[in-house]
Amino acid sequence: MENSQVAVVMVPFPSQSHLNQLLQLSGLISFRGIPVHYVGSATHNLQAKLRANGLDDNTMAKICFHDLPTPPITTPEPNPTLDKTPIHISPAAEAYMNFRVPIGKLLQDLSTKASRIVIIHDLLLAEVVQDAVSIPNAESYAFNCISALNLFLILWEKVGKPFRVGEELEALPSVKELVPEMTIDFIASKSQNFKDRAGDIHNTSRLIESTYIDLLARKEIRGNKQWAIRPILPVKPGSNESSRHKCLEWLDKQAPKTVIFVSFGTLISLSDEEARDIAIGLEQSKQKFIWVLRDADKADIFAGETRRIELPIGFEERMEGLGIVVRDWAPQLEILAHKSTGGFMSHCGWNSCLESFTMGVPIAAWPMHSDQPLNAILIAEILKVGMVVREWTKKEEAVKASRIKNVVERLMASEEGDKIRKRAEELSTKIQQSMEEGGDSSKELDSFIAHITR
Ligand SMILES: *[C@@H]1O[C@H](CO)[C@@H](O)[C@H](O)[C@H]1NC(C)=O
Ligand SMILES: *[C@@H]1O[C@H](CO)[C@@H](O)[C@H](O)[C@H]1NC(C)=O
Repeated sequence: MENSQVAVVMVPFPSQSHLNQLLQLSGLISFRGIPVHYVGSATHNLQAKLRANGLDDNTMAKICFHDLPTPPITTPEPNPTLDKTPIHISPAAEAYMNFRVPIGKLLQDLSTKASRIVIIHDLLLAEVVQDAVSIPNAESYAFNCISALNLFLILWEKVGKPFRVGEELEALPSVKELVPEMTIDFIASKSQNFKDRAGDIHNTSRLIESTYIDLLARKEIRGNKQWAIRPILPVKPGSNESSRHKCLEWLDKQAPKTVIFVSFGTLISLSDEEARDIAIGLEQSKQKFIWVLRDADKADIFAGETRRIELPIGFEERMEGLGIVVRDWAPQLEILAHKSTGGFMSHCGWNSCLESFTMGVPIAAWPMHSDQPLNAILIAEILKVGMVVREWTKKEEAVKASRIKNVVERLMASEEGDKIRKRAEELSTKIQQSMEEGGDSSKELDSFIAHITR
């Protein structure tokens, strides 16, 4: 049943986790019979399609992709310095800044065909959809790809902390100590015209962040509707036996909760020295591991060769039976869902956090940039479902192998680690219950859909 009353236009930011989140949301909306238009450069639309996990061909075929023209996108090499802010993808972000005119045209065109246009844009791309305000039957929603905690604290500090927020939040360090000023200004500037918007959508669960979502809704901050549409994940991912990744077969042979999964997402570039320290730390911890070791995505993932990160000579041979290094695309969600996985060393990107919370895997937090230091606090201090590897107060220093060994041992093989793991499992049980049909978070998506099709 096509609902031609409403058309949805998705405007994702061009980096993997952002592209995928809006693609997944496109799938959920299109599944309900509402036409979805997904806009981007040809390169990034292709990236989103090729890496779409969990979306079947049928759903994909229903989403209408619009390849918008961009000037050539340069692809600087990711720079493996200690400061991991992914400035190497800024040429892609800049290219997307040209989309205001073509998106305006698309909206005009659709507005004559559907009775309502619903624009869901990445928070970071507020500028390119600003012409929506001049279309009477259009309304726009910002999709927030970071945690509600981050967004709230950034905006609350930026407007001068206009109200009290309770002891727990007030005791946290100022966001200025956690997030570079450039990032704070960037996010705050994207929020300037928020009064033009009908609401914000968060990929989070009220079980984790209801306090911050309610605070965001206050009139001094947003003053509009906030929707927390849960991390929508397949509870038992990976049913296709014939396409299972070899690391899952290796996991099958390990004892329950004995393997630590190490992965730093798609935008982090480790130096050979950092990789060496991780290798030594893992080896000395004597814990089993799966380590995904890939260089960061470039602004255009199809351009040129990817640097191969070097490991100490003989490391992989010595680790045979104890751990494996994966250099291609790894099925993160299936690894986290696997019964043998008992820990996750992560950069604390919001997607990884959500996946780990949902699958009940405690986190060894190694925040790298932007929203990640605050996510590490959420993990280790607020939810208490992990411990910190990289302390942000020491961010000017490289993390030493001895520190890595110590945290891995504590997380995987100590009473302290077991307690944390138990809390992570309890949180996961609650989240999974709320994901079921009729659970709290599935209701919120239903209510969003009901709202836009009202
Ligand atoms: C929310 O985040 C999870 C975890 O990364 C992701 O798998 C899911 O697709 C996202 N949902 C939406 C609607 O973007
Ligand atoms: C399972 O994966 C294989 C290999 O990628 C593919 O050919 C097959 O169609 C998949 N089966 C299902 C049911 O998705």
